Amino acid sequence: MRAEGARQLEVWPERIERALEACLAPSAPPNGALLPAMRHAVLGGGKRLRALLVYATGHVLGATDERLDAPACAVELIHAYSLVHDDLPAMDDDSLRRGRPTVHVAFDEATAILAGDALQALAFEVLARAPLDPSVRVAMLAELARAAGAWGMCGGQALDMDATGRTLDLAALARMHALKTGALIRASVRLGALAAGAQETEQAALDAYAEALGLAFQIRDDLLDAEADSTTLGKTAGKDAAAGKSTYVTLLGIEQARAALAAEHARLHAALGRLDRDTALLAALGDRVVQRRH
Ligand code: IPE
Ligand code: IPE
Ligand code: MG
Ligand code: MG
Ligand code: MG
Repeated sequence: MRAEGARQLEVWPERIERALEACLAPSAPPNGALLPAMRHAVLGGGKRLRALLVYATGHVLGATDERLDAPACAVELIHAYSLVHDDLPAMDDDSLRRGRPTVHVAFDEATAILAGDALQALAFEVLARAPLDPSVRVAMLAELARAAGAWGMCGGQALDMDATGRTLDLAALARMHALKTGALIRASVRLGALAAGAQETEQAALDAYAEALGLAFQIRDDLLDAEADSTTLGKTAGKDAAAGKSTYVTLLGIEQARAALAAEHARLHAALGRLDRDTALLAALGDRVVQRRH
């Protein structure tokens, strides 16, 4: 990768941290624990993969960072909300996230539900107010809404809950992963492309890249749950099998899950090969997803 590209992957995390802090700056009217709970969920942790995908895609296609800040914040806000709700007792009932107590443990359950709701609303407000052409903003809002809702992340989470304690076949498992994790990852790439005004032909290759990367990401998450420890992960390890979750590891075992991960890794690189651009940054993010240790 060119040195300039490598540097960007180190610079963007600070940039997104500052932008998220600005989104969550304390302001009147006071609302008790709600804003502190939202800040707990969003700030000071997380790999920021989805924001990095927005910046990297936009950068590869020629957009400035200024055009990418709002969509990068929006995808991280939706992601943070999804984690707060995923950890609730009614869902995965987790007490550790990003090395700290989950929001319903640090605050309480009602506050965690409201913080998730409010983060979702904030994501759309940030996008609606973005310094971009109205037509680009509307396209981004539609894209993110579709990815977050019943035909995206929420739909996948519903399938995940339905599948708990049951065995899915591989096609159903891949579909569940594509929705619960893949949809927001694909939207991150699409928002970066929208900010840059990508061509339709490029969009198809970018979708193929994002779909492979999204599935790779969740297969890696399934493997890490089985193989890593809670301190390294910053979340409770070993929960999927204990909770009766359908994952690549519970369905296929470690070796075949690794093979499936390698297949998606190859697929994401092949998709990038169809783009007539310097895609080194997107390739590096793909490698990071496959090799990540937490
Ligand atoms: C965790 O996502 C939830 C899944 C979709 C598997 P990340 O692993 O991206 O979580 P953070 O943002 O780095 O904490
Ligand atoms: C969560 O998947 C996906 C979303 C939050 C949408 P997991 O339940 O596997 O995520 P972790 O392992 O708790 O981070
Ligand atoms: Mg879950
Ligand atoms: Mg979970
Ligand atoms: Mg998991």
